[in-house]
Amino acid sequence: MRESSESKVRYNPGNLGDLLKHGWLVEIVRFLRRLKGGEPLHYADTFCGFAEYDVGDEVARRIRDRFHVLTFRRLQETFLARGKYAGSVTLARLAAEGNLRASIFDSNPEALASFHSGEAEILEIRSGCDILDSKEPYDLIFLDPYDDIRDVAQLVLAKSAARHRLSSVLIFFPVKTEAQRGVLTTAVDRLGVNCQLGFVMNPGSLQDGRYHFATVFLPGSSLNLGAVLGLFGELNIVTARVNALAAGP
Ligand SMILES: C[S@@+](CC[C@H](N)C(=O)[O-])C[C@H]1O[C@@H](n2cnc3c(N)ncnc32)[C@H](O)[C@@H]1O
Repeated sequence: MRESSESKVRYNPGNLGDLLKHGWLVEIVRFLRRLKGGEPLHYADTFCGFAEYDVGDEVARRIRDRFHVLTFRRLQETFLARGKYAGSVTLARLAAEGNLRASIFDSNPEALASFHSGEAEILEIRSGCDILDSKEPYDLIFLDPYDDIRDVAQLVLAKSAARHRLSSVLIFFPVKTEAQRGVLTTAVDRLGVNCQLGFVMNPGSLQDGRYHFATVFLPGSSLNLGAVLGLFGELNIVTARVNALAAGP
């Protein structure tokens, strides 16, 4: 059964961090889907959250009027029109035009129950980062934790880089301070693999909270480098648009 969203998430859906990670997710899924031709994209989302969330008019208005990332906005529109905001699995499915094989996990059983039975395979893992120990060659793994994994961020990055022959990996990090941003940048530089990093500096508000936001994309090593560089350009545009939104009216 698909439940409406709830008040148990620790942030306001549709915040600047969501726009960053979901803007990137839509671009990456569309890119990978084009490469797969007609074959379904195998997608793992192990901090999957809910299928959709309740949002107020202000969130919908900001996206419609001021967030100029057109595909993302088009995919969200049917949700915004009924006071909702699509979560990552729902958005990935739409971006893949239905051609998605989703494997999901969340430590909150209510989140898992928000998906129709048969819509996604529920993974038998204990915690979202366990997916990085799997030998399964997913096309894309999305890791979207709260800030709890800050202490293990370097390990998560290293494991993601170590399996980049098997999968592309997208990771989202809420970042509390400028210093943490520096630590993350250094850790990404030291990975020694081709990857893209995006930051949004959040001035802070009731809707957007106090965290800054970082996202890292590690493309699978089998992907064409020239094509990947083109994708990086699209991701940079999304980041710039979120930063423009953060910067003011
Ligand atoms: C930021 S939310 C995910 C949002 C979701 N990806 C989306 O975009 O709609 C983080 C999720 O991680 C879940 N979570 C927290 N600790 C976890 C863990 N160790 N393993 C898996 N899920 C966890 C929470 O229940 C929450 O739903």
